[in-house]
Amino acid sequence: MSNKPVSYQRFPLARRIEHIVMLLSFSTLGLTGLPQKFPTSSISIFIVNSFGNIENLRLVHHFAAIVLMLGTGWHILVAGYKIFVNKEPLSMLPGIKDATDGIQVILYNLGLRKKYPQMGRYTFEEKLEYWAFVWGAIVMGLTGFLMWNPIMSLKILPGEAIPAAKAAHGGEALLAVGAIIIWHMYSVHLKKFNKSMFTGKIEEEEMLHEHPIELADLKAGIAGPRVTDPKELRRRKLIYYPIASVLAIIMLGGVYGFVNLENTAVTTIPPVSSPIPAYLPQTPTPFPTLPALKDVSGELTWDNFMRPLVSQNCLECHGTRPYGDLSLLNYDDAMRGSNRGPIILPGNSAESLLVIVQSDGKHYASINSSDLEKVIQWIDEGAKEK
Ligand code: HEC
Repeated sequence: MSNKPVSYQRFPLARRIEHIVMLLSFSTLGLTGLPQKFPTSSISIFIVNSFGNIENLRLVHHFAAIVLMLGTGWHILVAGYKIFVNKEPLSMLPGIKDATDGIQVILYNLGLRKKYPQMGRYTFEEKLEYWAFVWGAIVMGLTGFLMWNPIMSLKILPGEAIPAAKAAHGGEALLAVGAIIIWHMYSVHLKKFNKSMFTGKIEEEEMLHEHPIELADLKAGIAGPRVTDPKELRRRKLIYYPIASVLAIIMLGGVYGFVNLENTAVTTIPPVSSPIPAYLPQTPTPFPTLPALKDVSGELTWDNFMRPLVSQNCLECHGTRPYGDLSLLNYDDAMRGSNRGPIILPGNSAESLLVIVQSDGKHYASINSSDLEKVIQWIDEGAKEK
């Protein structure tokens, strides 16, 4: 008899690779995501700077998200294979026993119970973690989609959905990173270093302690795939592969759409290094030039000409509670002027503020040039009221 302890295969290579891919993408997402949630902290600034700039960081974040989405798709296909081809028992599904196991473990830890519950292939803790990850992936995927494709999403959802998605994305991220660091790290590294996800193997001793029910099933030959007959397996694969291929294409299309529906999120902040300014160049707002005043009849006076002109165009701002302290409500007010003094100097249109302000066409409302000529004439003729 050899001294080598008996060991069982717990995770085949494909599963271990899947785990490493998820581990890397998850860590990358956390590392590049949290600095976006806490942008002012010095660690965040350090991390952003190590990536060069925020755009690079976001690119890496998006890339890791794509990897995680593909990994999730792969996981679904493998799970499908195990369920439909191998007819393996759904060992990850939670059941009543998991709840009672959980309660018993708490009681055991408190010293209120002598026996540690016996568990199967996956302990209730492992199931909790797994489903927490599934939940997290759904929340992060949905909220990530909203932020990545805001314009499209808002065709269906109200505008509040985007900031809400952002809040949920950051909150769920904290929860997920916290859970991994505290819960996952503790249960697989600290409590007992569980190497099976890296070596794929688990020793009989460990099995006996942690998965005694699975061990018993293995020994009885009732664990694992239920379909072992090669002919039957072949038949099942022939059915599953086309279905899986269609599923794979649909999921790939989904990921492609997720990434490419619109470029908004990737391009909202143009790269700092780019010569393109961050915002549209400021085109001066065109100032409205007012239509010429119609039907000026009689002598050029305040009453005949200026009153209709200003009441149509200026009183909005120079009426009661006037801007610049300038009221154009009536002749006396107009002649008193603005907070900078008189704006109308009878006989001297060239130095009258009203003409100066109106000449460059840049006032909040500009008098039409033909009208302005009449204003000038009115001032030069003495700015008469009647
Ligand atoms: C949309 C608002 C708005 C309209 C409409 C408007 N103004 Fe003004 N105007 C202002 C404001 C604000 C100030 C004071 C702030 C400033 O100096 O720019 C001002 C100041 C002035 C002054 C005094 C300038 C000075 O430096 O003291 C004159 C003269 C003037 N407006 C003439 C007019 C005339 C004539 C019209 C109508 C054709 C007109 N404004 C229509 C907003 C308006």
